[in-house]
Amino acid sequence: MTVHSFFPTQVYSAHLRHAGWLRFNRELLRECQQVREHDEAGQKWCKKNYPGGYTSYGSLCHMQKMSSTFEALEKKINRHVKAYARALELDMTGRELTMTDCWINIMPEHVVHGLHIHPTSTISGTYYVQTPKGCSGLKFEDPRLDRFMASPPRKADCSPENQPWITIPAKAGNVVLFESWIRHEVPINQRRAERISISFNYNWF
Ligand code: NI
Repeated sequence: MTVHSFFPTQVYSAHLRHAGWLRFNRELLRECQQVREHDEAGQKWCKKNYPGGYTSYGSLCHMQKMSSTFEALEKKINRHVKAYARALELDMTGRELTMTDCWINIMPEHVVHGLHIHPTSTISGTYYVQTPKGCSGLKFEDPRLDRFMASPPRKADCSPENQPWITIPAKAGNVVLFESWIRHEVPINQRRAERISISFNYNWF
C-alpha cells in the first residue's frame, strides 16, 4: 500500500550568507534603530496599529530603495527567493520575482503580531537581525484548518507534516521565506530584549 502526500506547504529557511554576515548584520541593526528613532510618522502609526512595538510598515515600507545596506540585503535575499521558487517549481518563464516592499519590525517585551497573510504578494519572508535567546519564532498555521470539520486532533508527538501549527525559530542571520497566502503570526515576545527583524514581499507581475 501507498499513502501519498499531496499539496504540500513549503517553507524555506537558510542562513543569509556565510562570510562577513555578522558585520553586515550589525550595520542593519544600527540602521533599524536609527530609522525608528527618526520615523515620527511610523511611531504615530504604531501607536494605533502595533501597540508597544515599532514597524516601518505604515511609513517607510520600501527600505530597499532608501538605504544602500537594505539594497545589499535585497540582493542577498534575491538568491534565496530564486532557490525557493525552484523548489516550488514555479514556471517563471519571461517573468521575474522582484522585491516590492521591505520594512523593519522591532518587538519589545510583551508585543505580539497576530495572525495575518500578506495580500497581493507572491512570496514573503523575514530576515532576523536580533533574536534574544528564547524569543518567539514565526508560527505558521495549516492552511486547511478551516476545513478539518470532524478531523480528530493529532498526536502530541506527530511528525511535523501532520501538525496543525509549525514554528520556525527566529535566529539572527537567517532568512525564512513562505508563500504570501500562508497565515502566520509572531507570538508574544516574552524576553526583555528586543526582537528585531526585517520583512519583505516579492511579486511576479
Ligand atoms: Ni507577516
